[in-house]
Amino acid sequence: MPELLELRREQRTCIVTLRREHKLNAISSELERELCAALDRNELREAACVVLTGGARAFSAGADLNEMRGLDPAAIVSYYEGTGDFAERVAGLPQPTFSAISGYCLGGGLELALATDFRIADEHAVFGLPEVGLGILPSSGGTHRLVQMLGPARAKELILLRDRVSAPEAHHMGLVTEVVGEGEALSRALIHAERLAALPQLAARVTKRVIDSMSEGARSAGLELERLAYGLLAQTPDAEEATERRLSK
Ligand code: COA
Repeated sequence: MPELLELRREQRTCIVTLRREHKLNAISSELERELCAALDRNELREAACVVLTGGARAFSAGADLNEMRGLDPAAIVSYYEGTGDFAERVAGLPQPTFSAISGYCLGGGLELALATDFRIADEHAVFGLPEVGLGILPSSGGTHRLVQMLGPARAKELILLRDRVSAPEAHHMGLVTEVVGEGEALSRALIHAERLAALPQLAARVTKRVIDSMSEGARSAGLELERLAYGLLAQTPDAEEATERRLSK
């Protein structure tokens, strides 16, 4: 089976590219496994910065809907104990991290991007959290990260009210660090990453950890709540039916 992820070094930065393009980088358990394994590779651990990116059509269209059906409580608990923790593992990387985003950045794909420190989007990128329409909720850290990042009103707007948000709107909301021309997200993220790589490394890492630790208590409680809520909602007829409907479109 072809690898779903590519890792390469450019100067002092490690670039991780999602390569499940024919499925718009939908996050399958296999892709999660490869991502978690990549996070432990030396080329990544030794890099000064990490950039996550996808393809021209999609950074990622979210969790793989085919794998979201018929999960029982035991499967949901073991999922979060395993590769379902992928966004937290990205958030826990010690070095500064970026997402370079083109195309769709939806659901779990947006949650993955939220787990990085900075998001650089091209002008045609599209953001959204379709989970509630599918009878569930963002449960890879998305709800608590958005509340912390944007405040509760903006978080509710994005999760409950809005279907899709354009890159300029996402920037206006504070979701995206910078918007660049089409096809320029990766090169711009690399410029930022190399600038950060030139700073004293220990100071950059310790400062990141200090900032993250300020919200640590609320974060772990929020995450537990999110996962419990997902476990509850995923088993409702609404979730089953909405996912079936989406898949048969
Ligand atoms: N899970 C599984 N497969 C997905 C997927 C997902 N989240 N998103 C896209 N794909 C697959 C499609 O099934 C299709 O596969 P196929 O060619 O084998 O039929 C392929 O990726 C291309 O997607 P398609 O829907 O044909 O592209 P589009 O340009 O018409 O629409 C989207 C793009 C993003 C609007 C649409 O794919 C979509 O709504 N995806 C689901 C988004 C979502 O609900 N995410 C889950 C959040 S929990």
